[in-house]
Amino acid sequence: MKTSGTFLLFILAVMVSARVVRADDQCYVCHSGLGDEPSQKFVVDIHFKKGISCAACHGGDSKSDDMDIAMAKKNGYAGVPKGDAISTKCAECHSSAETMKKYGSSLKTDQWDELQKSVHAKVSFTGKEHIAQCTTCHGSHGIVSVRNPASPVYPSNVTRLCSQCHSSAAFMRAYNPALPVDQMEKYKTSVHGMKHAKGDIKVAECASCHGSHGIRSVNDTRSTIYPANLPMTCAKCHSDAAYLKNYKIPTDQFEKFKLSVHGIALLEKKDLSAPACNDCHGNHGATPPGVQSISKVCGTCHALNAELFSASPHKKAFDEQKLPECETCHSNHDIRHATDELVGTSGSAICIKCHSESKNTKGFAVAKTMRALIDSLQSQQKIAELLITDAEQKGMEVSEAKFKLRDAHQARLQSRTMVHSFNEKQFREIVSTGITVAGFVQGEARNSIDEYYFRRKGLGIATVIITILVISLYLYIRRVETE
Ligand code: HEC
Ligand code: HEC
Ligand code: HEC
Ligand code: HEC
Ligand code: HEC
Ligand code: HEC
Ligand code: HEC
Ligand code: HEC
Ligand code: HEC
Ligand code: HEC
Ligand code: HEC
Repeated sequence: MKTSGTFLLFILAVMVSARVVRADDQCYVCHSGLGDEPSQKFVVDIHFKKGISCAACHGGDSKSDDMDIAMAKKNGYAGVPKGDAISTKCAECHSSAETMKKYGSSLKTDQWDELQKSVHAKVSFTGKEHIAQCTTCHGSHGIVSVRNPASPVYPSNVTRLCSQCHSSAAFMRAYNPALPVDQMEKYKTSVHGMKHAKGDIKVAECASCHGSHGIRSVNDTRSTIYPANLPMTCAKCHSDAAYLKNYKIPTDQFEKFKLSVHGIALLEKKDLSAPACNDCHGNHGATPPGVQSISKVCGTCHALNAELFSASPHKKAFDEQKLPECETCHSNHDIRHATDELVGTSGSAICIKCHSESKNTKGFAVAKTMRALIDSLQSQQKIAELLITDAEQKGMEVSEAKFKLRDAHQARLQSRTMVHSFNEKQFREIVSTGITVAGFVQGEARNSIDEYYFRRKGLGIATVIITILVISLYLYIRRVETE
C-alpha cells in the first residue's frame, strides 16, 4: 500500500513537473489535459526529455494555446504522418549531425541511409510505403533510448519485434512465400536462445547477427551473414575475451578458424563451398538439417569419409568412449590440411595417441602397415615419374604412359580417403592398384629408354659402316685418278 502510494505521488510529481517544464509546448499542455494516449506516453519519451515538442513531428504552432491556431495548416500543421512521411520526418533530425548536435547529441546519423539500403526498404505495402518505418521498430510516442529495457529494440525485446513479422507465415507469404518463418522457433533451441529466454542480454539476438538498420539478404555480399562475412560477425563477441569473461568458454574459435583449411578457403580464396561458422552450428543455432549432433556435421560435405568411418571399427569404439567422430583426429576449428604424416606409428602420427605395442595393438599393426603401403606407393610413383621424365628428355614418345600415371595419382588420392575405413584389406586394395599402375608405367618408360639406347647403338654402327664406305669410295676414286 505504502509503496503504491509513493509510486502514485512519483507519477504525479513527474506529470506536474512535466507540465511546468513544458509550458512552452502548448500542444502538449492542451493534449495532456485531454488525457489522450500520445501525450500520456510522451512523458517518458526521450524527445520530450530533450525538450522536443509535439510540433517537431506534427508541425503547427506550439506557442499557441488556441487549437485552431496551433493546428492550422498555414502554421505548418501536417496532421498525422503516414507511411514514408514518418521516416523522412525522423530523418530530418536523425540524418543531420548538425541538428543532433544542437540537442547535445553525438549519436550516429546513418539510420535513414542504412534503412534505405536494407532489404526492408525493398518491400512495400501495396507498392506504396515501405514495410518498416522508424516507428515500426522504435514506436512513436514512448520512444526511449535503445539501452533502456523498455525499448522494443532492447536485446531482450528485439526477438519479439522481428518475429512479429518473421514468424507470421500469413504476413510473409505476401512478400516472399519462399522465405522460412522458423527463425524464432529454431533460435529458441540454440544456446543463445535458451539463455536469452532466461534474461541473458549478452547472447546473440536477431540484431546482433543481422544488424539493425542496414539488414541485408544473405545473398548480398555486403550482408553481415554473407558466408565470407559471417565469421567476423560471430567473432565480434566470440573473440572478445572481456565481453565473455563471465562465461566459461574459450574465445579462440575465430583465430583458429581463420588459419584452418576451411577458413583459408572461405576467407582468402572466397570458396563458398567451405563451411562458415553457421554451416556447422546452424543458422539460428539449431543443428543443420539432417544432422543429429554437431559432430556429424562434417559428413554433410565429406560424405565419403563419413560413410567409411561409419563402417569402420572406430565407429563403435568412439561411440563407446563418447568421442566425436571427426574432431577426435582433425579438431573442429583448427582443421589443417591432412598429410600422410598423420598415419602410422612415428611421432607425428595420430594413431599412436591411442594405439601402441601394448594397447589397442591390432590398430597399431594396421597403422604401421598402412603407412608402409603409402610409402611404397609414393616411392613407386616417384620412380615412375623420374623414368618418364628421363624418357621425355631423350625425345621418346611416352605420352600414353604419362597419362596412365594419373591413375596412380588417383589411387593416391583415394587412399587418403580410404584411411577412414581403418581396414587393412580395403586400404591395401586401393594402394595396390596404384602400385600396379606405377609398375606398369615404369615398365613402359624403361622400354622407351632401352629403345633409345638401342637406336643410338644402331645409329653408331650405321655411321661406322657409312664412314668405311666413304673412305673406300675415296680411296677407290684416288686409285682410278692415279691410274
Ligand atoms: C487547445 C487544445 C489543443 C491544442 C493547443 C493543440 N491540440 Fe491537437 N488536438 C486537440 C483536440 C481536441 C484534438 C482532437 C479533435 C480532432 O481530431 O480534431 C486534437 C487532435 C490532434 C491530432 C490528431 C489529428 C488527427 O487527424 O487524428 C494531432 C496529431 C494533434 N492534435 C497535434 C497537435 C499539435 C502538434 C499541436 C501543437 C502544434 C496541437 N495538437 C495543439 C486539441 C489541441
Ligand atoms: C518523434 C515524433 C513524434 C512526436 C514528438 C509526437 N508524435 Fe504524435 N505521432 C507520430 C507519428 C509517427 C504518428 C503516426 C502513428 C504512429 O505511428 O503511431 C503519430 C500519431 C499521433 C496521433 C494520432 C493518433 C495515434 O495515436 O495514432 C496523435 C493524436 C498524436 N500523434 C499526437 C501527438 C501529441 C499530442 C504529441 C505531443 C505530446 C505528439 N503526437 C508527439 C510522431 C510523433
Ligand atoms: C528493423 C527495425 C528498425 C528500424 C526500421 C529502425 N531501427 Fe533504429 N534501431 C534498431 C535496433 C535493433 C537498434 C539497436 C541496435 C543498434 O544499436 O544497432 C536501433 C538503434 C537506433 C538508434 C540508436 C543509435 C544507433 O544507431 O544505434 C537510433 C537513433 C535509431 N535506431 C533511430 C532510427 C531511425 C531514425 C529510424 C528510421 C530511419 C530507425 N531507427 C529505424 C532497429 C530499427
Ligand atoms: C526534432 C528532432 C528529432 C526528430 C524529428 C526525431 N528525433 Fe529521435 N532523437 C532526437 C534527439 C535530440 C534524441 C536524443 C539523442 C541523445 O540522447 O543523444 C533522439 C533520440 C532518439 C532515439 C533514442 C536513441 C538512443 O539514444 O538510444 C530514438 C530511438 C529515436 N530518437 C527515434 C526517433 C524516431 C523513430 C523518430 C521519428 C518518429 C524521431 N526519433 C524523430 C531528435 C529527433
Ligand atoms: C547467431 C546469429 C543469428 C541470429 C541470432 C539470428 N540469425 Fe537470422 N540468420 C543468420 C544466418 C547465418 C542466416 C543465413 C542463413 C543462410 O545461410 O541461408 C540467417 C538467415 C535469416 C533469415 C533469412 C531466411 C532464413 O531463415 O534463412 C531471416 C528472415 C532471419 N535470419 C531472421 C532472423 C530473426 C527474426 C532472428 C531473431 C529471432 C534471427 N534471424 C536471429 C544468423 C542469425
Ligand atoms: C514489419 C515487418 C517486419 C519486421 C518488423 C522485420 N522484418 Fe525482416 N523482413 C520483412 C519482410 C517483408 C522481408 C522481405 C522478404 C523478402 O522479400 O525477401 C524481410 C526481410 C528480412 C531479411 C532478409 C531475408 C532474405 O531474403 O534473406 C532479414 C535477414 C530480416 N528481414 C531480418 C529482420 C530482423 C533481424 C528484424 C528485427 C530487427 C526484422 N527483420 C524485422 C518484414 C519485417
Ligand atoms: C552478441 C554477442 C554474440 C554473437 C554475435 C554471437 N554469439 Fe554465440 N554466444 C554468445 C554468448 C554470450 C554465449 C553464451 C556462452 C555460454 O554460456 O556458453 C554464446 C554461446 C554460443 C555457443 C554455445 C557455446 C557453448 O557450448 O556453451 C555457440 C556454439 C555459439 N555461441 C556460436 C555462435 C555463432 C556460430 C555465432 C555467429 C553466427 C555467434 N555465436 C554469435 C554471444 C554471441
Ligand atoms: C567445421 C565445423 C565448425 C566450424 C566451421 C565452426 N565450428 Fe565451432 N564447433 C564445432 C564443433 C564440432 C564444436 C564442439 C562442440 C560440440 O561438439 O558441440 C564447436 C564448438 C564451438 C563453441 C563452443 C566452445 C568451444 O570452443 O568448444 C563455440 C563458441 C563455437 N564453436 C563457435 C564457433 C565460431 C564463432 C565459428 C566461426 C568462426 C565456428 N565455431 C566455426 C564445429 C565448427
Ligand atoms: C560446408 C561444407 C563442409 C563442412 C561442413 C566441412 N568441410 Fe571440411 N572441407 C570442405 C572444403 C570445401 C574443403 C577444401 C578446402 C580447400 O582446401 O580448399 C575442406 C577441407 C577439409 C580438410 C582438408 C582436406 C585435405 O585435403 O587435407 C579436412 C581434414 C576437413 N575438411 C575436415 C572436416 C571436418 C573434420 C569437418 C567437421 C568438423 C568438416 N571438414 C566440415 C568443406 C566442408
Ligand atoms: C582416427 C583418426 C581419424 C578420424 C577419426 C578421421 N580422420 Fe580424416 N584423416 C585422418 C588421416 C590420418 C588423414 C590423412 C590421410 C593421408 O593423407 O594419407 C585424414 C584425411 C582426411 C581428409 C583429407 C583426405 C580426403 O579424403 O580428401 C578429409 C577430408 C578427412 N580426413 C575428413 C574426415 C572426416 C569428415 C571424418 C569424420 C567422419 C574424419 N576425417 C575422421 C584421420 C582421421
Ligand atoms: C582416439 C583414439 C584412437 C585413435 C586416434 C586411433 N584409434 Fe584406432 N582404435 C581405437 C580404439 C579404442 C579401437 C578399438 C579397440 C581395438 O580394437 O583395439 C580402435 C580400433 C582400430 C582398428 C581395429 C582393430 C581391430 O581389432 O580390428 C584399427 C585397424 C585401427 N584402430 C586403426 C587406426 C589407425 C590406422 C589410426 C590412425 C590413423 C587409428 N586407429 C587412430 C582408438 C583410436
